[in-house]
Amino acid sequence: MIKKILLYTLAFLALAIASVFIYVSLTWNKKYDDWPAPTLKTSTDSAVIARGRYLVLGPAHCNSCHVSSIQDLEDSDKGMAIPLKGGVGLPMGPLGTIYTRNLTPDKNTGIGRYTDDQIFRMMRHGIRPDGTASLPLMMPFWKMADDDMVAVVSYLRSMEPVEHPVPENQWTFIGKAVRSLTPTFKPIENPDAPATAPPMTPPSIARGEYLARYVTNCVGCHTPRDITTFEATGPEFSGGMEFEPWAALNKHFNMDTTLWLRTPNITPHPNSVMAKYKTPEDFIQRFRQGRTVPFSPMDWGPFSRITDEDLTSIYMFLNSLQPVEHEVGDIVFKKESE
Ligand code: HEC
Ligand code: HEC
Repeated sequence: MIKKILLYTLAFLALAIASVFIYVSLTWNKKYDDWPAPTLKTSTDSAVIARGRYLVLGPAHCNSCHVSSIQDLEDSDKGMAIPLKGGVGLPMGPLGTIYTRNLTPDKNTGIGRYTDDQIFRMMRHGIRPDGTASLPLMMPFWKMADDDMVAVVSYLRSMEPVEHPVPENQWTFIGKAVRSLTPTFKPIENPDAPATAPPMTPPSIARGEYLARYVTNCVGCHTPRDITTFEATGPEFSGGMEFEPWAALNKHFNMDTTLWLRTPNITPHPNSVMAKYKTPEDFIQRFRQGRTVPFSPMDWGPFSRITDEDLTSIYMFLNSLQPVEHEVGDIVFKKESE
């Protein structure tokens, strides 16, 4: 009798595992080809391209990822003109590795292969040009205003083409399962973006909020989050999100490869890091300085090129938030178990 029950249990388990396996194999790379693209068109107008250049190399920090190596990243941070030819492999722990892509207009390996629709759909909905879902949180620009998005892609189209093939992403079975089963990896359904961005001058809280949420993405990193699902676990902008060491980056800067980082609280609480900046000028000064923690994931290079007006708007917005008391602890730390 016991033997029989054991046998049934084993058969049931095997069936359950096989079903999950089959389900994941069938759905992990699902296509979303039938989703409409936003009705936007790129332009060759020089003012539009200049606006796009400012966004791509500054607040929208595309150059923090779409370069080909960590050395490129360091050079690009310093302001050197590094082509956005992609290829950096971003380690995703047990899920696999995801590679940034060639954004130059090369016809074989870059965005020269894609229609405007394919590129705008990627940016608005997180659907890759081949129709599969991307990891939208990686590029949270879904609510970038129509005029800014057109400027960004128009600038990309105007860059010098560079032929540079990039490896396909590598997903482990766990990575495929997470892609199938969690909402984090699903496209964005109703991004509800504004038609025009709030103007740069005069600085305003509205402009600061727009940038901090949808362009510079301060909210992505400075909100406490679960490090596997990225769900918020506390108030926005109150800091405490943890960053696992990216060994290759730490090594590049001759730093201990077991050092973790966490974000400070940037709500206007007397105990938060914002207390260090008494005036917009103090805040601007900090941003002009760039990185002080060499292996910080914050996009200090591109952000050091944000205009005074836009940094003032961000400062005004952060100071308009509800102060949150949240002692995050040391910014650079080691996990106890290591
Ligand atoms: C945090 C890193 C990061 C930033 C910042 C970033 N990207 Fe990406 N981007 C990626 C990764 C990784 C992929 C590949 C995604 C995938 O394969 O699912 C990608 C893919 C793309 C693609 C699809 C290209 C293709 O060939 O499949 C476009 C277009 C794109 N990014 C544009 C941009 C633009 C424009 C910006 C700036 C406004 C930007 N990205 C900023 C990491 C980033
Ligand atoms: C990719 C993640 C990321 C993004 C995006 C990001 N930050 Fe940070 N930020 C960090 C981390 C990690 C630290 C701690 C390490 C350091 O100081 O660089 C930090 C530190 C800071 C500090 C403290 C600097 C100091 O000298 O003590 C301020 C202020 C700050 N961020 C503001 C912002 C603002 C404003 C934005 C949006 C414009 C932003 N951050 C976007 C990750 C991020």
